[in-house]
Amino acid sequence: MKKTKGIILAGGKATRLYPITKVVSKQLLPVYNKPMIYYPLSILMLADIRDILIISNSETLPLLKSLLGNGKKLGIKIEYALQEHPNGLAEAFIIGENFIGGDNAALILGDNILYGQGLSDILKRAVCRQNGATVFGYYVRDPQRYGIVEFDQNNKAISIVEKPQNPKSNWAVIGLYFYDNEVSKVAKTIKPSQRGELEITDLNAVYLKEGKLNVELLGRGYTWLDAGTYESLLDSSMFIKTIEERQGIMIACLEEIAFNRGCISKEELLSLSKELSGTYRDYLLALIK
Ligand code: TTP
Repeated sequence: MKKTKGIILAGGKATRLYPITKVVSKQLLPVYNKPMIYYPLSILMLADIRDILIISNSETLPLLKSLLGNGKKLGIKIEYALQEHPNGLAEAFIIGENFIGGDNAALILGDNILYGQGLSDILKRAVCRQNGATVFGYYVRDPQRYGIVEFDQNNKAISIVEKPQNPKSNWAVIGLYFYDNEVSKVAKTIKPSQRGELEITDLNAVYLKEGKLNVELLGRGYTWLDAGTYESLLDSSMFIKTIEERQGIMIACLEEIAFNRGCISKEELLSLSKELSGTYRDYLLALIK
């Protein structure tokens, strides 16, 4: 079985969050008690992906490197690559072509938060699919804002359209995608859209046309948030705070996931906890006990 490598796209301009993001990357903003990028990184780790490429702009890359390093402390491997301009999501597979090499690839957007019972199993199923692509549909109130999938009577996906004026359904494609090894080749055939971006929706449409796009629907038990506006950024923090306070269980605690998945030992977790303080540190220490 081919292994799956992971890419986090963490560049962009984040204009909808100006002035907050005029000098700070969106992906470094706090979502309650962690930097935003912890959430997408945790999803890749839950999918048992251990080789990760983080793509960002020149201002943000040094900061991400100093936050996450080469991943060794978490028992994973993290590499970095530059996207000079936000030329679109599909460019990740052109920038990441050498990194992907002969393997399959998953992409997650740096501002996506995903949570729900059974998520790890769904992720592993996507990783196990060796051919074609897997995307995830999420029912939304405002389909004009997203890439939208249309289904026939047998629930087979028949079209996928970016930000449609007349949406054919309310099923939005979330910012997490799995592809076979063809992805970089396909990405190179995509032409920039009217807004000048290499659209992931166009890439997905190629897979759909070839009958190779699996769409998994995430039902009402799942939470998907993209923390890209003032409201959704605050909602994301409130959501994480609510669940964590109620249950005393953390969401997207990278150190915990690394420990539970056997990527790091008790001793290594202990040494990570020494770099932290307060309730985050107490939480890690309780895991060791
Ligand atoms: P968007 O939210 O579409 O773009 P943005 O973050 O620049 O925000 P805004 O629309 O407010 O200007 O991007 C989704 C995610 O993908 C986000 O984490 C940034 C990242 N991204 C890139 O890294 N490179 C790109 O070329 C694009 C389009 C987005």
